[in-house]
Amino acid sequence: MKNHITLGEYIIENQKDFQYSSGEFSRLISSIKLAAKVVNHEVNKAGLVDILGDHGETNIQGEKQQKLDVYANEIFLQTLINREIVCGVASEEEDDFVIIEGKNKSHDNKYVVLIDPLDGSSNIDVNVSVGTIFSIYRRITPLGTPVKIEDFLQPGNMQVAAGYVVYGTSTMLVYTTGNGVQGFTLNPAIGVFYLSHPNMKFPENGNIYSINEGYYIHFPQGVKDYLKYCQEEEEDRPYKARYIGSLVSDFHRNMIKGGIYIYPTSSKAPQGKLRLLYECNPMAYLAEQAGGEAIDGYRRILEIKPTELHQRVPIFVGSKNMVNKAKEFMVQYPEDANY
Ligand code: AHG
Ligand code: MN
Ligand code: MN
Repeated sequence: MKNHITLGEYIIENQKDFQYSSGEFSRLISSIKLAAKVVNHEVNKAGLVDILGDHGETNIQGEKQQKLDVYANEIFLQTLINREIVCGVASEEEDDFVIIEGKNKSHDNKYVVLIDPLDGSSNIDVNVSVGTIFSIYRRITPLGTPVKIEDFLQPGNMQVAAGYVVYGTSTMLVYTTGNGVQGFTLNPAIGVFYLSHPNMKFPENGNIYSINEGYYIHFPQGVKDYLKYCQEEEEDRPYKARYIGSLVSDFHRNMIKGGIYIYPTSSKAPQGKLRLLYECNPMAYLAEQAGGEAIDGYRRILEIKPTELHQRVPIFVGSKNMVNKAKEFMVQYPEDANY
C-alpha cells in the first residue's frame, strides 16, 4: 500500500485550512469519524440483523431491531453530545433541533451540526450503498446561551465545513472546509481513514445524468426539455442514465466521473424532495469546492435563505457545464407554473 497520510494527520497538517479554532474543529471531525466507523460496522452486517434477531439477542436489547437510520441518528447524536464539542444538532430524524449544553452546562461551544444520518436508507435492504451527510456552521447567537433556531437557518454560504460518508464497496469520508475537497478511504482492518482522493474535482463536462425518470410525467417542462437534450443523438450524446437512489452515492460517482444529479420539483412534490439544510447545502458546498455547481434550477443553492429546519428544495448539482446547460432549459419557463 502507498504511504498515504491518515485523516488525523491531515487535519493536523492542514490546520490553517480552517479559519476558526482548529483544535475544536479537529475534535469535531474526529467525532464524526468515530460515529462513521460505528455506523459502517453496523451497515456492513445489516443483512445479518434478522438472523441475530432469531436468536433472541436483539429482542432483549431492543436496539438492533431499530431501523438503521434511527440507529445511525443515535450514534451520531450521542457521539457529538458525549464529546461536548458542539452546541446543537439538527437531524433528519429529529423533529426539532437538539440543544447541547457543553461542559458544565456552559453553552459555550461554537458549532452547530446538521445531519442526514443515513441517506438512501431504503437501499439498505438490497445491499446498495448508503451514506451520511453533514453540515457545520458557527453559531450566530451569543456564546453562553442555548442555541436557537436561527443558528441552524443560516444560508449554505455560511457553512464552515461539510461532508459525507459513503458506505460503499469501500467506505469513504469526503469533506471540505472551504479549501477544496478531500476524500479519505477507510481501511476496515485497522479502522483508519487514509487520504486516497486528494483535491477531488468534478470534471467540467460529463456524460452521466442521474434523475428518477419514473416521475417524468410530473416534472416541470424545463426538466423534460433538458432530459430530451440528454437523450439526443449528438457528438457526445446521448448521455448515460445512472440513478442509484442514494444522493451520496450518485453524487460521489458523478464527482469522480462527471455528471449531473437532479431532484426537481414535480406536480407531486412542489418543493422537491431533498432537504435544504442537511442534504442540498452540504452537497452544494462540496460541489462548488470541487469546481462544480449547485442550483435549484434558477439560483445558487448556497444563497437560499432557509426558513424551516426540514425545508425541501429542488436541486441540480454536478459538473459545471451540465448544470449550466440544464439551467438554460429551466429559465425558458416561469418558475412556478410550468408542469
Ligand atoms: P433519505 O434516505 O435520507 O430519506 O434520502 C433519500 C433521498 C436521496 O438519497 C435519494 O437520492 C432520493 O431520496 C431518492 O428519492 P426517489 O426514490 O424519489 O427517487
Ligand atoms: Mn437523505
Ligand atoms: Mn436519511
